Amino acid sequence: MHEIMLAFPKKRQAIHILAARHILHKLGIGEKDIAEATTPSGTVLLFYIRSRCRADFFVKRLRRTRLKSAAISATFLRKDDWQLKWKDYFKPFRFTKALTVVPLRMKDSYKGRGDVIYIDTGPVFGAGTHPTSQMIAAFIEKKKGLFKSFLDVGTGAGILSIVASRCGAQDIRAIDIDRRAIRTARRNCAINRCSLSHLGVLDFRRWRSKRQFDFVAANLLTDDLLTLDKKLASRVKKGGYLAVSGISLGNLPKFRRGFDIRSLRCLAVIKKKGWAALLYKKLDKK
Ligand SMILES: C[S@@+](CC[C@H](N)C(=O)[O-])C[C@H]1O[C@@H](n2cnc3c(N)ncnc32)[C@H](O)[C@@H]1O
Repeated sequence: MHEIMLAFPKKRQAIHILAARHILHKLGIGEKDIAEATTPSGTVLLFYIRSRCRADFFVKRLRRTRLKSAAISATFLRKDDWQLKWKDYFKPFRFTKALTVVPLRMKDSYKGRGDVIYIDTGPVFGAGTHPTSQMIAAFIEKKKGLFKSFLDVGTGAGILSIVASRCGAQDIRAIDIDRRAIRTARRNCAINRCSLSHLGVLDFRRWRSKRQFDFVAANLLTDDLLTLDKKLASRVKKGGYLAVSGISLGNLPKFRRGFDIRSLRCLAVIKKKGWAALLYKKLDKK
């Protein structure tokens, strides 16, 4: 396995990281296959490629792009090392006002105070390092105590369900299209003593249930949010909340134009490092 690393110095990194992610997507690397981690000297993006030939191809292509600020390197990792390697960059960090995320490998050694979530991400998106996860978690925390049922659409490593449980949710349903995500989320929920009513592999586009929830969270791609707008809104109880994230600032005007559901009132828009998240409330009357 080959680890490709793009290392960005601190200065003006947000915009460069966003551009890098965009280029990686164009080269066929999926969002959940890119790990992002903060180091003392800046931020790194990491992804893994099996064959040497493909790894060389990616390095050459990336060096030819406009990513002048990034140092791009490829390292060969032995079979046993690769799934663990990127986690070396994953350190405890403040995830929301009240919650700190601590890598599972530091569970016994971490001496910090406060409310902690232990995360072992495996190869899926959702260690909480990404701004889109942090913003949607902030919305969940803001409504602490105001919701009992919670739907986590695209749970990834399960982090938002764990936040919801810490904020008082008792009936939590988490789904993901990716089997690896569900396995990882199951492990993380168990480690954090977060019990879910349901956790399973499911494509939300095909979900036929009519159940409604006090709080629905969806951190997805802008186009998926736009396609699923009515479906997402229909899963929210009257008076309940819908939080969406995963919208790049470039896509925000398109999102605001397209995501136009009359029963939803936008309560807040927050922006962080090139991304936006929005919180809606479902009106009591249509
Ligand atoms: C950006 S990650 C968000 C993970 C986590 N919720 C967070 O905020 O950190 C998006 C997740 O949604 C999942 N996903 C994408 N489309 C989906 C769909 N149609 N139905 C269910 N899950 C989906 C992906 O597999 C991925 O794990």
